[in-house]
Amino acid sequence: MSLNSIQSTDIILTGDRTTGPLHLGHYVGSLRNRVILQEHCRQFLLLADAQALTDNMGNYLKVRDNVLQVALDYLAVGIDPAKSTIFIQSLVPELTELASYYLNLVTVARLERNPTIKDEIKQRGYERDIPAGFLTYPAAQAADITAFKATIVPVGEDQIPMIEQTNEIVRRFNASVSEPVLVEARAVVPEVGSRLPGIDGKAKMSKSLGNTITLGADADQIRQAVKMMYTDPNHLRVSDPGQVEGNVVFSYLDVFHPDTALVAELKDHYRRGGLGDTIIKQHLEDCLQSLLTPIRQRREAYARDPGAVLETLKQGTLRAREVAAGTLAEVKSAMGLNYY
Ligand code: TRP
Repeated sequence: MSLNSIQSTDIILTGDRTTGPLHLGHYVGSLRNRVILQEHCRQFLLLADAQALTDNMGNYLKVRDNVLQVALDYLAVGIDPAKSTIFIQSLVPELTELASYYLNLVTVARLERNPTIKDEIKQRGYERDIPAGFLTYPAAQAADITAFKATIVPVGEDQIPMIEQTNEIVRRFNASVSEPVLVEARAVVPEVGSRLPGIDGKAKMSKSLGNTITLGADADQIRQAVKMMYTDPNHLRVSDPGQVEGNVVFSYLDVFHPDTALVAELKDHYRRGGLGDTIIKQHLEDCLQSLLTPIRQRREAYARDPGAVLETLKQGTLRAREVAAGTLAEVKSAMGLNYY
């Protein structure tokens, strides 16, 4: 993500579905950027529990519990509630109301063509039995973004179609009223190299694939994850030349190890032969432990006082509601729904 294209007047809106605690992939792809961005801009962080329910009604307790888990992850990595507004989607009914108007500006065919929705329908095996709330969540996401007049939405690649559809709704709405009310947003995608592969070598770290390291992982879990990590399946003896490309340990060293000269040297040695997996894994484990230990400790400290965390979410939600209510009032009055 090119952070320098973002200005202090930008308003940032991010969102995470609360279906599970966050992991190192989230840290690299988005959390660490949010910690930087909060110093420069107004930033809203949405805990998307209502969106999570669009395909999890049978699992509402999981969705509920993960609101707190994701909030703990935010706080643990250094998102500061004095600088960023963290809030709970389901407690901002203005978003639902906005979404209900936006639904009049999208067609069912357009929703069905949204590439993200299409992929997710396939992944979930819905065929034609799609929960209507799931099919229409792009309109809800447009509400999340526009309610805050967000200009920047940092997202993974898979979410770009959501921002495109949001901007279509914005243009359509603005064109159908006498004065523009809504603001278009720009998707900002993390730069190449900030997508972390899973520990099994699959392209993506993802909870459903079971190949993650969570931000709350303890020292032993980190050690085990590194031990299991995919390297070069043909590197059988230490003396054999090994392959660096596609070797997860090196992908991670590239992302996390502060000493790039050392990493370059390790790569050379590994390619020549004579460098064993145990050694490179030890280097990686050391730097992951030193990254994650303070995060875990802060996470545990916040987890000891869930009441205080919920109070933080309550304050954030109040602030978010005020902003969303302002936009909703403008939207309604633009449509003539300002009767008295
Ligand atoms: N769709 C996002 C996800 O899959 C979560 C989300 C909800 C979101 N509302 C948003 C992201 C608004 C960006 C902007 O996790």
